[in-house]
Amino acid sequence: MKKKKNKIMPFTFKIDFTNRTLSNPDSHIIRKLSSMKGQYLDQSIYNGMLKKEDTVLYEVYEKLAPEIEGELIQGLSIVHPGKVGREYFMTKGHFHSVLETAELYFCLKGQGYMIMETPEGDWSAEELVPYTALYVPGRWAHRSINVGSEDLLMLFVYPAHAGHNYVTIETKGFRKLIVEENSNPKLIDNPRWKGKNEFKTSQ
Ligand SMILES: [Fe+2]
Repeated sequence: MKKKKNKIMPFTFKIDFTNRTLSNPDSHIIRKLSSMKGQYLDQSIYNGMLKKEDTVLYEVYEKLAPEIEGELIQGLSIVHPGKVGREYFMTKGHFHSVLETAELYFCLKGQGYMIMETPEGDWSAEELVPYTALYVPGRWAHRSINVGSEDLLMLFVYPAHAGHNYVTIETKGFRKLIVEENSNPKLIDNPRWKGKNEFKTSQ
C-alpha cells in the first residue's frame, strides 16, 4: 500500500545493490504471476506454473512525494529473471492516468527491453543495459522485460500526479511482444492484438 505524503522535505536515498532495495522506502509493491492473467501467450504453461507456485515476477520500491504537479516520485524497479514459455518475466505495463506525463528510467543492472506504445499506434522497443537512460515521453505506455539471467534493476522518476492506468493493457496487451528464439530475445507482433488500444479512463 502506498502512503500518501502531504508535506515533504529535501531528502537523499541510497540504492542497496546487494539486498536489491532502497533506503527507507515509502512503499514496496510485489507483483506475482497471478497478477499477469491473460498477459502471457501460452496460457497452459502459465496456468501450470501458477498451480505450482505464485512466483514473484517483479518488485517496486518507491520514495513518495505529494501527488501534485511539480513534484516527482522515484524509486527502484526490480524485474526478476525467468520465463513463461517463450516470454520473459515482465511488468504489467501501464499508461499514466494523466496521459501527457513522461518518465525517466536509468538501467543500473541486468539486461532488458522497454516495450512502449501510444494510443495512436506508434510503438518502440528500447534495449536496457547498465548505464542506459531511457526517456519515455507522455502518451507512451511502457512495460519492462528482463531478457537476462540476473535481476534487471532500474531507477525511475515520474511526475507525482501522473497516476497509473493498468486496465487498458490488461484488456488488450501490447502490440509487440519479446520472445526467446534460439536463446536470443526477438521482437514479434502480438498475435492476439486486434484493433486499436483505446485509452480507457477508469483505473
Ligand atoms: Fe510509468
